[in-house]
Amino acid sequence: MRTTRPLLVGAALALASVALAPSAALAAPAPPADPNASEHSAAIGENTLRALAEAAGIEIGVAVNTDLLASDVKYRNIVNTQYSSVTAENVMKWEALNPQPGVYDWEAAEALIANAEANGQVVRGHTLVWHNQLPAWLTTGDYSAEELRATLEEHVKTVAAHFAGDIQQWDVVNEVIDDNGTFRETIWYQAYEELGLPGEQYVADVFRWAKEADPEAVLFYNDYNLEFTGPKSNLAYTFVQDMLADGVPIEGVGFQGHLDTQYGYPDLRNNLERFAALGLEVAMTEVDVRTFVTQKPNGTYTNTPADPAEEAQQIDWWAQTLEDCLAVEACNSYTVWGVSDAHSWIPGWFTGQGAGLLYDMHDNPKAQYEALREVLRDAS
Ligand code: G3I
Repeated sequence: MRTTRPLLVGAALALASVALAPSAALAAPAPPADPNASEHSAAIGENTLRALAEAAGIEIGVAVNTDLLASDVKYRNIVNTQYSSVTAENVMKWEALNPQPGVYDWEAAEALIANAEANGQVVRGHTLVWHNQLPAWLTTGDYSAEELRATLEEHVKTVAAHFAGDIQQWDVVNEVIDDNGTFRETIWYQAYEELGLPGEQYVADVFRWAKEADPEAVLFYNDYNLEFTGPKSNLAYTFVQDMLADGVPIEGVGFQGHLDTQYGYPDLRNNLERFAALGLEVAMTEVDVRTFVTQKPNGTYTNTPADPAEEAQQIDWWAQTLEDCLAVEACNSYTVWGVSDAHSWIPGWFTGQGAGLLYDMHDNPKAQYEALREVLRDAS
């Protein structure tokens, strides 16, 4: 067994019997029972992903759609019985929390946190600062550089302070480096340059503000394609190294892990290791493995892999990503980006691709799910 112990493990142990019981504990009020709900998740008990992950010394997490968590019993049972960590897929993003200047809507995020507490789960905060899913008032408002900086500080401090004590790991800044290995020219990058500062300095400020507002959460920089060695992950490495040298309170690096079978398997373990060697925690934060799916005669797509060989590769890559994380002591959390293929972001973004998650279109477990269980069994 690994020595890395997840935060709140005591709470998780204390609640394990509740969390793995046939009907998972809920934040009140409980919605009416669904007579058609599957017994799948309820029947697994000690063989759930979360029980096996706990024995292996790692958190296993899932990105949660809070509407489905509230309305769909089968979905909720999977979230609560299979996972020890949850991430808000959307409801902690800027546009959701801060829809108007100075106006905050905490309801959906708080419901997720309450449900997590009731089920002995830790929460990964996602995300304080990202260039996507920003409210229109911010992106279309005529703000000066000074105002944009002040707004950034206000948002980060308000959100981090509000959730202080509830968040295990925060994705403080998300995707600050472009695919070509240069800093992404976000509105804040541009504002800092206008102020005569290095554009990327906003990232360091955001980490400092977040730490001030929530000293307990472990603060992560999160990005995609860090799995691959190349210009992007190389810049991320030197950037993080420089921030550490400057005393910036960055404590972790999140590897999103959105993989695609048409590209080769990344140099994941080496990249996890080199960031960990800087003294940081590392985590797999948004894993999915997409592939091309079959097309129907009417032109729409199924969510069934078109090529059995690619499907086998998907299963293998799921196992490999988890093995790579488990092989690196500092990799203490592994999160999958969504419950099932029925609700994944992939088909909406990559036409003709999908089948990227552990459960199928009917929220039933796939071979990918079994592959993760096998890896966890071998690790404990
Ligand atoms: O909230 C609106 C709703 O009001 C409207 O009726 C509906 C109609 O389409 O859209 C809703 O917004 C959607 C939003 O999710 C909330 O459900 C957006 O259209 C949709 O584009 C958005 O997609 C999310 C995406 O981030 C946005 O960039 C995905 O669900 C979410 O899985 C995805 O997650 C990101 C991570 O945060 C960062 N890393 C990459 C990852 C995948 O893109």
